[in-house]
Amino acid sequence: MIDLRSDTVTMPTDGMRKAMARAEVGDDVYGEDPTVNRLQDMVAAMLSKRYALFVPSGTMANQLAVRAQTQPGQEIIVESTSHIVRYEQGAAGALAGVQLHWVSGERGIMTAEQVECAIRPNDPHSIPTGLICLENTHNAGGGTIYPLSTIEKIKSVANQHGIPMHLDGARLMNAVAATTLPPTAYAQHFDTVSLCLSKGLGAPVGSLLISSRQDVIERARRFRRMYGGAMRQAGVLAAAGIYALEHHVTRLQEDHTHAKKLARLLQQIPSVRISAQHVETNIVIFEVIDQRRTPQEIVAALKQQGVLINAIGGRSYRAVTHLNISAKQIEEAGTIFARVLTS
Ligand SMILES: Cc1ncc(COP(=O)(O)O)c(C=O)c1O
Repeated sequence: MIDLRSDTVTMPTDGMRKAMARAEVGDDVYGEDPTVNRLQDMVAAMLSKRYALFVPSGTMANQLAVRAQTQPGQEIIVESTSHIVRYEQGAAGALAGVQLHWVSGERGIMTAEQVECAIRPNDPHSIPTGLICLENTHNAGGGTIYPLSTIEKIKSVANQHGIPMHLDGARLMNAVAATTLPPTAYAQHFDTVSLCLSKGLGAPVGSLLISSRQDVIERARRFRRMYGGAMRQAGVLAAAGIYALEHHVTRLQEDHTHAKKLARLLQQIPSVRISAQHVETNIVIFEVIDQRRTPQEIVAALKQQGVLINAIGGRSYRAVTHLNISAKQIEEAGTIFARVLTS
C-alpha cells in the first residue's frame, strides 16, 4: 500500500528504535529525565530561544501557547483554514476561553494588512486581541511556506500593538529544508513556536513548545499538567525526537521532490485540477472533476488499487509525501491515479 494520507503515518526506523531502546530516562515531572532535558536544550538552541517544553502532541503545544499567553474573553487572530481553527476540536474556546478571529488567507498565508484590520480598537467596547497565530508550513493551504518578508511585516504590526505572536511550526523543518534558511530566521519573530517531531521528521510521538519567555513556559508547564500531558519516563520518546532532528531534517528535501513529481503526474490527468507550481513542500492538494463518483468512492477506488489519500472536502484531495515513500512508489502512485481517475 502506498500511504499518502499524511506524514504522520511514518514508522520509526531501525536506527530510531535503537536510540529509543538505549535512552537514559527519569521522571520528567520532576525534571529528571536526561533525554527529555537534552531534547529540550537541543531544540531551544536550534531556534535560539531559551526554553523548550516537551509535550505529547502538536495540538497540545498550540493550545498551551494560546492558554499561556491569553486571558479568557480575549480574541486570537488565526487564518481561517489553520489547524487551530479546523482540527483542534474548538480547544482554544473550550480550554482557554478565547474567541477566534478568522482571517482568510491565500493558500493559508495572511497579509500584514489583513492582520492589522483584524486587531480590534483599544477601547472599552472591543475585545482585546491576545495573540496572533501563523502556521508554517500551512497544512490546509497545501504545505505553503510563509514568506519571511510577510512574517516580518506581520511582526511589525504585532509590535506596534503589543500583541504576542505564536507560530504553529508543526512542519517548520519542511520550510527550513525547502528554503535552506536557518530555523532561527523564522523563530526570531515569534514569542512561542510549536514544533512537531511526529510529522515529516518521522518520530512516533512528540512536539515541543519553544520560547525565550520563562513566564510563558512556566505557565505552559502548569497547563500541560492540567491538560494531562505531563509524562514520566518520556526519554524513550525524546530519544526518537533527537534521532529525527539529527538524521531526518535535510532528507525532507527528498519528500519535496517526490511531492513535486507527483503533482506533475497528476497534472497530466484530464479530470485533475492542480496548480503544480504551488507545491512547495510535501503536501499536494488537488481537485478531481468526476460527476459519477463521490469523493468517498474515489478514495475507495484508489485504495483498492493500492493508494491511500484523504478527501478533504468538496472535490479536493490531499496527498502527503514522507520518509516511507520512495521515488518508485511515486511513479507507481502516478500510474494508479491515472488509471482510477480516468476510468
Ligand atoms: C499544522 C499542524 N499543526 C498542528 C498539528 C497537530 O499535531 P498533532 O496531531 O500531533 O496534535 C498538525 C497535525 O497534523 C498540523 O498539521
